[in-house]
Amino acid sequence: MDVAEALRILEQERARGLALIEEAASEADLEAAETAVLGRKAPVSEVQRALGTLSPEDKPAVGRAVNETFAALRQALAGRRQGLAAVAEEAMTRADRIDVTLPGRRPPPGALHPLTRTERRIVDVFSSLGYRVMEAPELDTDWYTFEALNIPPDHPARTMQDTVYVDVPGREDLVMRTQTSNQQVRSMETLDPPIYVVSPGRCFRRDTPDATHSPVFHQVEILAVDEGLSMADMKGTLEAFARAMFGPDQQVRLRPSYFPFVEPGAEVDVSCFVCGGSGCRVCGNGWIEIMGAGMVHPRVLENGGLDPERYTGFAAGMGVERVAMLRHAVPDIRLFLESDVRFLSQFVAGST
Ligand code: PHE
Repeated sequence: MDVAEALRILEQERARGLALIEEAASEADLEAAETAVLGRKAPVSEVQRALGTLSPEDKPAVGRAVNETFAALRQALAGRRQGLAAVAEEAMTRADRIDVTLPGRRPPPGALHPLTRTERRIVDVFSSLGYRVMEAPELDTDWYTFEALNIPPDHPARTMQDTVYVDVPGREDLVMRTQTSNQQVRSMETLDPPIYVVSPGRCFRRDTPDATHSPVFHQVEILAVDEGLSMADMKGTLEAFARAMFGPDQQVRLRPSYFPFVEPGAEVDVSCFVCGGSGCRVCGNGWIEIMGAGMVHPRVLENGGLDPERYTGFAAGMGVERVAMLRHAVPDIRLFLESDVRFLSQFVAGST
């Protein structure tokens, strides 16, 4: 190797090394570049080893050039290494950094389902009249759902309520309750008179869904059993309820009707809260039917272990969906079950 060649190699390796170091995008790239240009087998190291073969006059110049090349490459390496470390650190602190002064991301406000709100409102009115909440099971025996309520297996009233029978091996007597009236005999067995209970919950019937029918729906039922209760007490209670629920000018009207577990029985109408009773599209004739009611049948009191000579009572049950549809002018019962946020969000800020 002569001087000219040694200087050419050093020149070339310096340029190649600086480029490699500059291009290194990671610590691994940098280490590879270091080995390639500064390692034992690197051309610069070879020139260094060949120094001994040069003449004493040539040695100092080439030796200086070797040192300078090493120094330049080492400096570039150190600089690049520092640069890469700074970039990594910056990325880390950026990920960690929390600006506590930024406003938070507000989750969209949730709200109770309109049926829940309506149900709670109904229950609240009766609670404030002194009724206590008593829930009965959704899956119950034929006894509590029908037989104890004076509806024997062959009674035609059963066809009024297309029941969902449940196939539980060894239990032929279970049904999905068709009405919250399954609380009546249960309440009489659980509590001693005077009994004043309000019983909300889900009911099930084998109905084909349409605008006014749903196989799953909700009712709220009340039951009062005491000494000396009369139909006047029932009407007064229902009137108080209607006024609390729909407005202070509400009228209540009873029409004779038939439910096997009450005698006498009635359909309960309230004066239309849309037109005030003059007749409109919602009510037709000024009255809106909202519940069934009646004086508890003596046989039901007996089935509840109570003496019908001593106690009398009344019961009334209403559909939560129907009340909610009327209050909010909802045209189709299925809207309540479709979980469509466009429908449900209308109730977020509304009153119950
Ligand atoms: N359970 C009856 C129904 O679902 C309503 C009702 C309740 C009637 C209490 C009278 C007394 O239709």
